[in-house]
Amino acid sequence: MKTVKASMLKRWQVRLLDAAESAMKTAYCPYSCFPVGAALLTSGGKIITGSNVENAAFGSTICAERAALVRANAMGNRRVKAMAVVTGVVAGRDVPAAPCGSCRQMRYEFRHISGGDIQLIVATTSRKKALLTSVDELLPLPFDPDFAGG
Ligand code: THU
Repeated sequence: MKTVKASMLKRWQVRLLDAAESAMKTAYCPYSCFPVGAALLTSGGKIITGSNVENAAFGSTICAERAALVRANAMGNRRVKAMAVVTGVVAGRDVPAAPCGSCRQMRYEFRHISGGDIQLIVATTSRKKALLTSVDELLPLPFDPDFAGG
């Protein structure tokens, strides 16, 4: 896991962040006012995006990362190589946001299907810094799909 200056990113990583930022603009977050956009890169080179969708029954909210993964699955793409996440700068907090536990576990399922680790690039809209990490790094002791017969 490392935090780097945005200028250190490769072109494909910037392109993935751009797609995540565009998706972030579609976030439906009237309760938290915390918009999140995600863009995943499939093994076939497709970029598939999602954004967070909140609900008055707060527990029914879906995060941007899981929205993108569900969408990728519906489009027939379960093999994921990388994912970028962009959040807004809210209340002056300009820090790349580490993903929630549910998104880590769901990403692990796709990592299992994909047969290789998934790179993660996280930034805010300021793009001052990016957090570079991976599914294996964020969830070192996962509930493995093998336990459930997957
Ligand atoms: N959120 C995400 O989209 N991804 C995460 O990994 C953590 C949180 C969303 C859910 C909710 O709409 C808002 O951020 C505040 O929790």
